[in-house]
Amino acid sequence: MLRKNFNLDNKVIIITGGAGLLGERFAKVIAGSNGIPIILDLNMKKAKSIIKDIKNEFGINAGFYKCDITDQKQVSNVLKSLNKLYKRELFGLINNAAFNPQASKKVKNELENFNLKTWEKEIKVGLTGAFICTKIFGSQFAKNKSGSIINVSSDLGVKGPKQSLYSHLNYIKPITYSVVKHGIIGLTKYSCTYWGKKGVRSNTIAPGGVYNNQDRIFVRKLKKEIPSNRMANIKDFDGIITYLLSDSSKYCNGSFISIDGGRTVY
Ligand SMILES: NC(=O)c1ccc[n+]([C@@H]2O[C@H](COP(=O)([O-])OP(=O)(O)OC[C@H]3O[C@@H](n4cnc5c(N)ncnc54)[C@H](O)[C@@H]3O)[C@@H](O)[C@H]2O)c1
Repeated sequence: MLRKNFNLDNKVIIITGGAGLLGERFAKVIAGSNGIPIILDLNMKKAKSIIKDIKNEFGINAGFYKCDITDQKQVSNVLKSLNKLYKRELFGLINNAAFNPQASKKVKNELENFNLKTWEKEIKVGLTGAFICTKIFGSQFAKNKSGSIINVSSDLGVKGPKQSLYSHLNYIKPITYSVVKHGIIGLTKYSCTYWGKKGVRSNTIAPGGVYNNQDRIFVRKLKKEIPSNRMANIKDFDGIITYLLSDSSKYCNGSFISIDGGRTVY
């Protein structure tokens, strides 16, 4: 009985930044539960290869659009196209795209000199893009009277960055990351109260840092901050994504769910 409730049976689910590290995994997890992932990204080459993998592995025809989510017209065109292509109603949206640069000696990010253009560019993808997709796809879900929106925050959506983790790299975690990851929680709360009666649910997930061959000293320092004593594995979010998109979470609305090995309890 429970297994049936976790099925995403032909649900059409849009993933922004679906060609990135987490987005690719989310797309495969959705296809693995019989849902239809739709990738919105700028990286066409990567997206095409993900679509191919999904077809080979799960036999699902996933979708891909080259779409800049900060451009309202492009996002509206995706909605029009999806409404024509899929006979069933659209069901889910994962607001996942954001700038998430790896620590690097080349980027400085001191607050005193933080460039206004960088601020605007990063806020535009992480917050304005999420707002545009929520507005456009969420309105359609509200019309259909059902939908699930997952906003991807971070452990840094609830706590400030510990800059000493990056000090040996001479790197500073940018202010934009904190602002975007905190802001997206507000977006969840707003759409939760705004569309709750219309059957549209909005929830935030807050992943901890995913191990992706980062600098060894950084990883050693970070592990000490995490009660589970490790960084996240890309598979650690499979369950929560499936749950929040499935009928098992019908009463889960406006929630904030940490999957960070306990890092945010400190
Ligand atoms: N990787 C982690 O350790 C981690 C931890 C916690 C939270 N997160 C969050 O998870 C999300 C995904 O992170 P990731 O590591 O997979 O990032 P990523 O950089 O691998 O992927 C981001 C994707 O977004 C796409 N993108 C950028 N601008 C776009 C635009 N204007 N329109 C459409 N697509 C655009 C990029 O092409 C890229 O494919 C982010 O919101 C990030 O903050 C990541």
